[in-house]
Amino acid sequence: MVGSGAREHALAWALAKSADVVVTPGNAGMTAHGLVCVSTPASELESELFVIGPDQFVVDGLADELRAQGKTVVGPGADGARLEGSKAFMKEFLTAAGVPTAAYGVFDDEEAALAFLATMTPPYVIKTDGLAAGKGVLVTHDLAAATTDVREKLSGAAFSGAGTTVVIEEGLEGEECSLFVLCDGTDALCLVPAQDFKRVGDNDQGPNTGGMGAYAPMMAMSSQRIDEIVRLIVTPTLSELKRRGIDYRGVLYAGLMVSPAGVKLLEYNVRFGDPEAQVVVPLYGDGLYDLLLRVGEGRLAGASAVPTGAAVTVILASAGYPQSPRTGEVIHGLGPDGQLATPLENVIIFHAGTTRNGEGQFVTSGGRVLAVTGLGANVAEARRRAYEGASLVNFKGSVRRSDIARLASEGEK
Ligand code: AMP
Ligand code: GLY
Repeated sequence: MVGSGAREHALAWALAKSADVVVTPGNAGMTAHGLVCVSTPASELESELFVIGPDQFVVDGLADELRAQGKTVVGPGADGARLEGSKAFMKEFLTAAGVPTAAYGVFDDEEAALAFLATMTPPYVIKTDGLAAGKGVLVTHDLAAATTDVREKLSGAAFSGAGTTVVIEEGLEGEECSLFVLCDGTDALCLVPAQDFKRVGDNDQGPNTGGMGAYAPMMAMSSQRIDEIVRLIVTPTLSELKRRGIDYRGVLYAGLMVSPAGVKLLEYNVRFGDPEAQVVVPLYGDGLYDLLLRVGEGRLAGASAVPTGAAVTVILASAGYPQSPRTGEVIHGLGPDGQLATPLENVIIFHAGTTRNGEGQFVTSGGRVLAVTGLGANVAEARRRAYEGASLVNFKGSVRRSDIARLASEGEK
């Protein structure tokens, strides 16, 4: 398992139910939880299966490097990873594949960009082309703010590491859904739909983040809806990948906008979502290893995956996240294993940004610090457990949303 966040902690924990797992590099919370973490790079390790967690490694071509060594890998090569690495490429791909998506324009030039913006109606959506940890997208009703954002992205004043090309899009309304589609180069298998909460504050206020919480299954997505998504979005995508000679073995993460008028694809990512993995993976019991091995080996045909129950995860983030997180705070409420000092049944803590100080205490070391996951028979029960668990953990300035999965759990009553 390659990576060091809460997503990788959840994946490694689930894989360890049926395999010996080594994580590179992992984090302090995984080690405490009994997972073997090493600093050796993946290219110098031997394993039956390599699973790559973070987008940057996939986009940088780690899967190609490992496959060139004869290894079995979950994660597309750099060719398939362009779906996430460049939003301009992704939009062009979707158009070629005939996948429904927001109308858009791609710009390097301010005059043309602002002229296009003037033709759009609010909400305005401005995206930086390259990887920006989920933070490179502005959605606003304020034309002046949109104009400033276009200027800053084009000039490199904002997100210059992700390039200075911008994508301006039609604003879509509806419910967002994250659907992880396992692909083995030919066949595909959808995992249970999940919902992520991207804005930092309650009621979707404040800036976009990497994700402040999630739940699964998303009951609002009926099996007819999923069938429609497979027909209109997944199948055309697989055909277009084939047509371009891209052998896509990994997770194709469809970020969807669902409205009564239909479903449109907001974006593709080329790996599991974080924090969605922390609620999807636990629903498959000890079945994850077999599924992912089939992905890597191109043997997905005939595989089935039946999820059980529901999960909710609440992210505890550092003060100042996402703009300028303040780290180095001692975390209270965790035991030596990095789990709740006072254990609660069906609550698991996945570590994102933690390390240990000289006294062995866990301290914060990143924007997102912990993902507290509750499991239950339904979303309401899972939510109660997640929040009960989260209430037992504290550090100075900790930020959390109080409304993760609230509407979904009310909808079950
Ligand atoms: P992306 O990185 O493309 O998924 O964008 C991050 C977030 O911005 C999405 O999860 C949505 O909440 C929002 N977003 C992106 N594109 C659009 C759009 N065309 N219309 C409305 N919201 C959007
Ligand atoms: N949860 C959003 C992402 O992983 O990109």
